[in-house]
Amino acid sequence: MNLKGIYTAVRQLFVKNAEIDLDNLPQHIAVIMDGNGRWAKSKGLDRSAGHAAGAETLREIADYCSEIGIKVLTAYAFSTENWKRPQKEVDALMDLLYEYLCDADNKLVGKNNVVRVIGDVTPLREDIKKQITYVEEKTKNNDGMIINLAINYGGRDEITTAARKIAEQVKNGEIQPEDIDEKMIDNNLYTAGQPWPDIILRPSGEYRLSNFLLWQAAYSEFWYADICWPDFTPKHMKLAISKYQKRNRRFGGI
Ligand code: IPE
Ligand code: IPE
Ligand code: MG
Repeated sequence: MNLKGIYTAVRQLFVKNAEIDLDNLPQHIAVIMDGNGRWAKSKGLDRSAGHAAGAETLREIADYCSEIGIKVLTAYAFSTENWKRPQKEVDALMDLLYEYLCDADNKLVGKNNVVRVIGDVTPLREDIKKQITYVEEKTKNNDGMIINLAINYGGRDEITTAARKIAEQVKNGEIQPEDIDEKMIDNNLYTAGQPWPDIILRPSGEYRLSNFLLWQAAYSEFWYADICWPDFTPKHMKLAISKYQKRNRRFGGI
């Protein structure tokens, strides 16, 4: 066995044996669902097959998180920069998002979860917008886990939008510039009223935020893995939570 093989075997052992403390769970877990394209390529498949597999992984991970009692799961599905991709891939992603939202209607509602879409929905297809409104409306009174689907989401766009909303209030004389504080900005984000992510996971071997939850991530713990999102399983989630539970969060204190 070469070095990489040994590393993989040791890692699998850790994944299998990770134990988590169910009384000390992160409230909010955010995932950057990356690596679908590379996963598909490694199997000789079209990139869209990777996205389809990634959507399946999200269903499984959402089930697991809601079963163990996570309060909020945020999944980065499509960034404000992902429009740069070839039209064929954008179309395939939009089809999958639509399917996911229809499926959420069938499956998630019964599970008592709340589905929310975070991001600028304005440029999305009409059928997608309609389905978003429908699913959000249908699940809004549930009291289970909140699933935030980040669609056409960008952290910079979110902060810009919040700034614009606050500027309108100043313009209308409803507030004064000195009334603006962190709480007000927070309350004007897509995630208003929700806890900040305790942990942000990024599989695929990349080490960047890619414009995800820029404001909310101020004190989030990071977890990276060099597997692609479609290969991510509840066991990896368990490992990430177990590692998180051993971290010492200081928030600037000692
Ligand atoms: C993540 O997988 C899905 C989206 C960004 C929509 P990618 O499509 O980025 O997969 P890689 O990073 O190219 O492998
Ligand atoms: C981040 O992945 C966005 C999503 C997972 C939806 P990207 O693949 O778009 O990020 P970069 O381009 O590698 O930074
Ligand atoms: Mg990527």
